[in-house]
Amino acid sequence: MSDWWRHAVVYQVYPRSFVDSDGDGVGDIAGIRSRLPYLRDLGVDAIWITPWYPSPMADGGYDVADYRDVDPLFGTLADADTLIGDAHALGLRVLLDLVPNHTSSAHPWFVEALASPPGSRARARYWFRDGGGPDGSVAPTDHRSVFGGPCWTRVVGADGRPGQWYLHLFAPEQPDLCWDDPDVLAEFDDVLRFWFARGVDGFRIDVADMLVKDRAAIDTPELVGPDAPYPFSDQPGVFEIHRRWRRIADAQDPPRVLVGEIHGARPERDARYLHPDGLHGAFDFAFLRSAWRAADLRQVVSDALDAFGAVGAAPTWVLSNHDETRHVTRYGGDDLALGTRRARAAALLMLALPGVAYLYQGEELGLPEVTDLPDAALRDPVWERSGHTRRGRDGCRVPLPWTGQVAPYGFGPAESEPWLPQPPGWGGFAADRQAPDPASMLSLYRTALALRRTDPGFAGESFAWRDMGPGVLSFERDAGLWVIVNLSAAAVALPIGDVLLASAPLDDGRLPVDAAAWIRPG
Ligand code: NOJ
Repeated sequence: MSDWWRHAVVYQVYPRSFVDSDGDGVGDIAGIRSRLPYLRDLGVDAIWITPWYPSPMADGGYDVADYRDVDPLFGTLADADTLIGDAHALGLRVLLDLVPNHTSSAHPWFVEALASPPGSRARARYWFRDGGGPDGSVAPTDHRSVFGGPCWTRVVGADGRPGQWYLHLFAPEQPDLCWDDPDVLAEFDDVLRFWFARGVDGFRIDVADMLVKDRAAIDTPELVGPDAPYPFSDQPGVFEIHRRWRRIADAQDPPRVLVGEIHGARPERDARYLHPDGLHGAFDFAFLRSAWRAADLRQVVSDALDAFGAVGAAPTWVLSNHDETRHVTRYGGDDLALGTRRARAAALLMLALPGVAYLYQGEELGLPEVTDLPDAALRDPVWERSGHTRRGRDGCRVPLPWTGQVAPYGFGPAESEPWLPQPPGWGGFAADRQAPDPASMLSLYRTALALRRTDPGFAGESFAWRDMGPGVLSFERDAGLWVIVNLSAAAVALPIGDVLLASAPLDDGRLPVDAAAWIRPG
């Protein structure tokens, strides 16, 4: 179907933590291939694989040293080709992750830039600037990096003395590219074509809103003033870049898809990115950030449907990803039972909304955040960059439990040691344990995805709220699906009809607190 991306369910694979086939402690492409049948049976339409390119792994692969190859940790380019072919044979589409805002500091361009003098062509591909003050020791601007600390680092000149500064909105190992430079534009056109030619169905685009910088704010910050808007996102030029990529994506047969990571949690802003000649989609992070309260959820869903609908785009819902606290823990804190109940209800809410849904590996197993990783195990650069004040994102990246009751729980061969330690008891979440249990999270996801795929109630994109009293979210899809999520303090009566699926056993025909149901109206 040509518009598959308007209603797909996409499963995010974070390769390091998915399946380790060779026992080196890190997941790999052969591991992903071995679980493709599992993903097909789960009922997703596509997978999005976070970066697998050669990388020093300063930020889990979001520091790319070569955009046209695969890191040996994960396999080879030939393995990537085989995986894409296998996935397609099973009816699964494949999205990769494009990281265009920054390269790795090990990328040949940056290595060349460091070896080249100020003002050179090689430095023009990045944001090199002289520092202020008599000895150039003052950073060009005061902006902070997303991971903590300044977003400028000073390099050592050819004479061994401190030299210019370069911009990195993330870690120092991730220098920002200068998208005014023609080499940069041409390079990424080619990278897109390289992977499209290998059959990749589209890209998730990392920090898609931040590629273009306000040059005046960098070069003359004193004129722009300290209260000026953040100069690194939403710059007009960024839309031009997306248009350029859309032309390339549209020129493929079949056309390919571009989905942007755009932070800021304001759907009316995200919608600016979504045009027939811009990105196809952008994650709605407001939904992910919403408190577990009916009024708040209703507001974020309405805002997204209005904003995305106004530009003819499909909303893109997501509850968890590799950067966020897993939603079982967001919704329940230390109370695993509460978080799990709410996560089950949230899954039925998300999967019944019109639009696209992204699942993050392990959410179908109901994994909570691992909040007690030892300090020495932490790998996220956020931990060091924040001076050990933010523990970072490792807790949602712990390798998955697949089988058995003994670590590494089928993530890798027996006795192998995963790159992040799995907590004791992780086997309670293992896929093999959940598969035969009709009450498990895995069974809920499988049933929900099968219904979403086959039940006529999910056809079309229409949506209308129905009032069922305070604390109850309720909406109807035109094709014949009524969705109720009970966030009130008491069980609620259900409308007349067939219960297609409920996230918890009904209580004398009523929907319990923190539960959701899909009803075919009678
Ligand atoms: C967003 C990615 O999802 C995150 O993992 C990464 O650290 C930053 N972008 C920088 O690339």
